[in-house]
Amino acid sequence: MIDLADVELTLPSSAGPVHILRGLTLSVDTGQSVSVVGPSGSGKSSMMMIVAGLERASAGRVAVGGQDLGGLSEDNLARFRRETLGIVFQDFHLVPTMTALENVAIPLELAGRDDAFDRAGDSLRSVGLGHRLQHYPGQLSGGEQQRTALARAVAAAPKLILADEPTGNLDGDTGGQVIDLLFDLRARHGSTLLLITHDQSLASRCERTVNLRDGLIVPEANAGPVAPIALAHPAQ
Ligand SMILES: Nc1ncnc2c1ncn2[C@@H]1O[C@H](COP(=O)(O)OP(=O)(O)O)[C@@H](O)[C@H]1O
Ligand SMILES: [Mg+2]
Repeated sequence: MIDLADVELTLPSSAGPVHILRGLTLSVDTGQSVSVVGPSGSGKSSMMMIVAGLERASAGRVAVGGQDLGGLSEDNLARFRRETLGIVFQDFHLVPTMTALENVAIPLELAGRDDAFDRAGDSLRSVGLGHRLQHYPGQLSGGEQQRTALARAVAAAPKLILADEPTGNLDGDTGGQVIDLLFDLRARHGSTLLLITHDQSLASRCERTVNLRDGLIVPEANAGPVAPIALAHPAQ
């Protein structure tokens, strides 16, 4: 589902170029759940932006869902995102002037679905927000806002869910509920999951954990070369 090969990301800054990703190689199988951990500034969000096609790699190859993102035009990248991805951010990224229902429905409508509002309602009900459809983000609790963002992310049954510190702005209990929901939705849709988190217990709920440090993946923890493969395919 995800194939990164020797990916580099270098961005300009006032102090000169910053080498954010320095030759990152990662493969994630379809249906796998993978957590990405690492200190602040290690490049986790940058890696996610590259997988999402929101940032272009400076070097290396990026293939997601069988598409070589480096070869796609901006229009085709936008289509790739609409058709393949659901993204959840730490700070929800809801549009404050739109109701919960509109936040979920408008992207579906833009993707050309004529059942956008019905589908959005169903998706919000599936995260327990059937009674909040007409509420604006400012009228929702943090947990409800993130559940709205989850409903938006999965409304089109994406093949891949990307989540960047989805519980970072929530208290422990609320965060736990959001994560339970995220895993539940992923199971229901059979989506591949890439979950960025600095919470080890949360990371361990994924089949596999990838460690990032200074823009590079460090060999997977507590494991020789064989164990990550075993972890990636638990007994079925
Ligand atoms: N637009 C940018 N321009 C220059 N440097 C950036 C930019 N975005 C992020 N960085 C730097 O890249 C590094 C990795 O950032 P990030 O991917 O956000 O890390 P993480 O998500 O692991 O905390 C940090 O040192 C950050 O300051
Ligand atoms: Mg980050």
